[in-house]
Amino acid sequence: MKKILVLVAVIATVLVSGGNTFAQTKNTAALDVIMSRASVRNFTGEAVTKEQLEIILKAGMAAPTAMNIQPWRFVVVTDKEKIAEVFGAGPRSGMFKTAGAVIVVCGETTVKRKPFGQPDAPEQEMPNMFWYEDCCAAAENILLAVNALGLGAVWTAGYPAEERVAPIAEKLGIPTGVVPLCIIPVGVPTEKPTPKDKWKPENIHWEKW
Ligand SMILES: Cc1cc2nc3c(=O)[nH]c(=O)nc-3n(C[C@H](O)[C@H](O)[C@H](O)COP(=O)(O)O)c2cc1C
Repeated sequence: MKKILVLVAVIATVLVSGGNTFAQTKNTAALDVIMSRASVRNFTGEAVTKEQLEIILKAGMAAPTAMNIQPWRFVVVTDKEKIAEVFGAGPRSGMFKTAGAVIVVCGETTVKRKPFGQPDAPEQEMPNMFWYEDCCAAAENILLAVNALGLGAVWTAGYPAEERVAPIAEKLGIPTGVVPLCIIPVGVPTEKPTPKDKWKPENIHWEKW
């Protein structure tokens, strides 16, 4: 009886998916989250909970990453005084003063691994040339998760602006070789900016440039 039920479930799955058992369920909610995201720079000052932050960081760590190295590191600051001390002086610091939390997305710029094509060689510390791309992907996932939770956030620049990176790294004790890529204030929004329409067909070159 159990075997028949399993068989029926498999046949139903194949029929529903049009014959492709690996077909994903359509999820237009994900598209809504992507298309409704817009940078938010004004917050109520309310806290963002640890539970919310963990969901947001899980989304960050779900990003694609070259060779699965996962070079991202996150410094999360929720203490109001610390936020004011570290981020309160720069340009457009107002958004930091009212944020419930600040996530600094950092990248470990070196990796310990075997050289390519040398499976028997010992692991070596070497530059990870893809840290930047991986951390950008993580940062975008973070912005999307924030939007999905009904919170707001904005990507503010860190790397490669050394004048922004150095004081933050120093104040947060970020070690050498780990670079703050971007600084994301997160909070309960006091505004709902309309997403910018960036759809420009002229930016697409079908089949050939
Ligand atoms: C690499 C990068 C750096 C950015 N730096 C800042 C910044 O320092 N301050 C800021 O207010 N917004 C910053 N932004 C946000 C952009 O201004 C914003 O994404 C852009 O205007 C498009 O608007 P949208 O995010 O609402 O679609 C940055 C975005 C990126 C991707």
